[in-house]
Amino acid sequence: MSRFAAWLMVLVAFALGLAVIGEANNTADQPHTTQEHLRSAAWWPTKQLPDQSVYAGSAACARCHADLYATQQQSQMAHTLKHAGQGAVTPGELHATYQLGDYHYTLSTGKSGLLMHVADAHGARTDAEMQWVFGSGDVGQSFLWQQGDGFRESRFNYFAQLQTFAATPGRLHGTPLSLDGAVGRPIASFEAKTCFACHTNNISADLTTITPGIGCESCHGPGRAHMQAMEQRGATNAAASKPQHLDAHILNPDDMTPVQQVDLCGSCHSTSWDVRLMGAVGVQTVRFPAYRLQKSHCWGTKGDARLVCTSCHDPHAPLEKNDVAYDAACLACHTTKDRPVKDVAHAANACPVATSKCVSCHMPKNELPEMHYAFTDHNIRIVRGTSAFPD
Ligand code: HEC
Ligand code: HEC
Ligand code: HEC
Ligand code: HEC
Ligand code: HEC
Ligand code: HEC
Ligand code: HEC
Repeated sequence: MSRFAAWLMVLVAFALGLAVIGEANNTADQPHTTQEHLRSAAWWPTKQLPDQSVYAGSAACARCHADLYATQQQSQMAHTLKHAGQGAVTPGELHATYQLGDYHYTLSTGKSGLLMHVADAHGARTDAEMQWVFGSGDVGQSFLWQQGDGFRESRFNYFAQLQTFAATPGRLHGTPLSLDGAVGRPIASFEAKTCFACHTNNISADLTTITPGIGCESCHGPGRAHMQAMEQRGATNAAASKPQHLDAHILNPDDMTPVQQVDLCGSCHSTSWDVRLMGAVGVQTVRFPAYRLQKSHCWGTKGDARLVCTSCHDPHAPLEKNDVAYDAACLACHTTKDRPVKDVAHAANACPVATSKCVSCHMPKNELPEMHYAFTDHNIRIVRGTSAFPD
């Protein structure tokens, strides 16, 4: 081997080594699975902490963050889980009925707020108190209750679009074999725990503590230490106090990289890797905004590395349903012919077609048949007339 070739090999080995180190440094800024985050972080949304006393509850945050609390409480996320007795059920539901094979279902108000009656074709009947209502009702609602040493899930959901009951999505729809089976799908406690983890502020591993609805600490982590530190500082109104960012003892997602921020929302909405591993394909992926967004040319190195969920959504307010309201988010990066962007370094192309309602064409809605709802495709793109839903 010539000396030159030997040197070349050393250089190549060195370059490979650098590439590997570079890769290792970059992995923090790649999307990850939620399992990986749960394993490696002291706290992450849906992680069940052994000590529940580290939580303060959203109402405690309201003392100093009154404005954020007021609007957050109106969001669908805040109402995504309720006790059946909390007025969670739309009046229409009490009059709705459902038929599955030989079994006929009706509802009435019971001790806990919601009593389900099931009758078979021979007149045999039984009742169940449905304890928990999942879903704000904007899309749909599902019912869960404790029975034996596990839980039961209703065989039907309420769907806002239909204004009545239909089969629970993603479940086998075969006719139940017995009246007991017809009452509800048995689900083991460990599975029920995953439902609660994504629909609460915090839960204990034994489910004796369940704080329903997405609260401040669902995204910011346990807040008691922060609350006490701020009390010591004598703060009463966070909006009025001068931000010090000394040691706030609380997670501000703005301090994370854009990729980590999207993974944080993805802890409940699924990260792009969660979706790959669950094997969802085609239009089924439309429910998963992180996966879809990361396919868009607006995202990451293809587009703008600063793009996150909160570029368009205020996590402290109800979902905005007016297309025009999203224009500002698009125009923060894209120019229009008559309006150049301020941040010239990041200016992206202008649209040759329109100057408003950008999302109506570039983020179309797609109906998922068994969900009875049209979800928004977060893969921001040019949609050509007849093109099929791109993976
Ligand atoms: C006693 C008043 C008080 C209470 C109660 C309180 N906060 Fe704060 N919070 C503040 C003040 C003041 C700041 C601004 C501090 C700073 O920037 O240094 C702040 C800042 C924050 C920040 C931004 C931190 C940063 O690093 O930028 C977050 C997030 C936050 N609070 C969340 C919460 C949550 C969640 C709760 C309830 C668990 C809560 N706060 C309860 C007073 C309070
Ligand atoms: C702890 C779990 C959890 C986390 C973390 C979470 N979400 Fe949600 N989100 C939900 C659930 C559950 C719903 C369904 C609400 C319903 O029942 O209608 C939802 C609904 C939404 C909706 C539609 C309705 C609404 O409430 O506005 C938006 C938009 C949304 N989430 C954005 C976000 C963003 C952005 C983040 C990250 C900053 C985030 N979510 C983090 C659980 C979560
Ligand atoms: C990984 C977190 C996660 C788990 C686990 C989870 N959910 Fe959800 N759920 C969400 C999010 C996020 C939404 C809102 C966005 C959507 O529809 O995908 C939602 C929405 C819902 C809705 C409203 C309808 C809808 O699609 O918006 C119902 C009802 C519901 N979930 C029930 C359940 C039940 C029952 C379980 C357990 C069998 C469960 N969820 C498990 C995160 C989760
Ligand atoms: C769905 C997730 C989510 C929920 C729920 C949530 N936050 Fe936030 N919060 C964020 C994210 C993401 C940011 C950083 C980006 C931004 O400012 O929107 C943030 C920023 C903040 C900030 C600092 C910036 C500011 O606007 O002053 C404070 C303070 C705060 N949140 C308090 C709260 C309080 C109090 C609640 C409950 C009433 C709450 N948050 C609920 C996700 C959430
Ligand atoms: C954080 C900055 C940012 C935001 C916010 C943003 N984009 Fe983009 N977008 C880009 C960049 C950068 C590109 C790639 C370069 C280009 O095409 O100008 C891009 C590309 C595009 C493309 C071309 C896609 C293709 O397949 O060729 C469309 C269409 C688009 N964006 C529309 C939108 C719309 C509509 C919104 C608002 C819903 C939006 N963008 C929000 C930065 C952004
Ligand atoms: C470029 C803007 C933009 C970004 C970035 C964005 N969204 Fe959205 N999102 C929208 C629009 C527009 C809608 C539809 C609003 C309506 O109902 O008219 C929407 C709707 C939703 C909904 C309601 C269900 C649906 O599919 O219609 C959820 C949940 C949601 N977004 C979560 C997220 C999460 C989580 C992220 C980050 C991974 C994110 N969004 C990033 C613009 C955005
Ligand atoms: C009526 C539907 C419609 C609306 C509304 C709309 N667009 Fe477009 N946009 C299109 C179509 C169609 C194209 C592809 C044009 C072509 O290539 O012939 C396009 C192209 C683009 C491109 C790619 C331009 C390039 O040079 O590659 C960007 C970026 C874009 N739009 C952003 C936006 C933004 C930002 C808004 C809101 C201010 C918006 N669009 C509103 C239909 C629309």
